[in-house]
Amino acid sequence: MPRNFSERDGMPVSAEIVVRDMNASDRDQVKEILEQSFEGWYLREGLKGIDSSDRVLVAEVAGKVAGMAELRFYDAGEMIGIVYYLATHLSYRELGIASRLLDNALKFFKEEGTSLALCSIEHENQATVEFFGKRGFKETSVRSLASKYKIHFFGILRRALIVPGETIYTKNVD
Ligand SMILES: CC(C)(COP(=O)(O)OP(=O)(O)OC[C@H]1O[C@@H](n2cnc3c(N)ncnc32)[C@H](O)[C@@H]1OP(=O)(O)O)[C@@H](O)C(=O)NCCC(=O)NCCS
Repeated sequence: MPRNFSERDGMPVSAEIVVRDMNASDRDQVKEILEQSFEGWYLREGLKGIDSSDRVLVAEVAGKVAGMAELRFYDAGEMIGIVYYLATHLSYRELGIASRLLDNALKFFKEEGTSLALCSIEHENQATVEFFGKRGFKETSVRSLASKYKIHFFGILRRALIVPGETIYTKNVD
């Protein structure tokens, strides 16, 4: 549905959000979004993730990249879909961009036969905790993941790059 972007960045009165695969000419805008959204180690890993993720989606609004999502898989006997990095350009936040990216990510995970979507969030990142919580993701203990996935557990931690200070959230993909 067209959204009202009139007050943002000189956008047209209404513009559609188009979610598609990132291409080479989007790279600078994707990097800019990561640089606005993360710093230090998180930024470095997010920049590397552009090339090391299984799929990178962008949300385009009137020809401009307004948001990005790096998606990964881990085969733990059952396929796990990882929302690795998700970020919206500062000028386009709270307009539904990340929601559209997440909808597309979940659709893609489902098409690929994924049973579980997973992300990890720093405790203090309340906007993101709220974002995923409202969209059906539930806090999941390390202990329950370890007991469910056993030897695959460390592979999941590595692929999702889960580090101390983060909480894991999961959602069944159905
Ligand atoms: C989290 C983030 C991706 C949300 O992007 P967005 O395009 O603004 O999100 P949407 O407009 O689709 O959804 C907005 C929802 O996010 C949450 N949210 C966004 N900003 C918020 C804030 N400042 N405080 C609380 N909740 C907030 C709310 O749940 C809100 O839902 P609501 O509109 O129903 O209340 C964006 O804030 C961002 O890029 N943050 C920095 C990068 C980051 O931390 N990414 C996540 C870890 S990889």
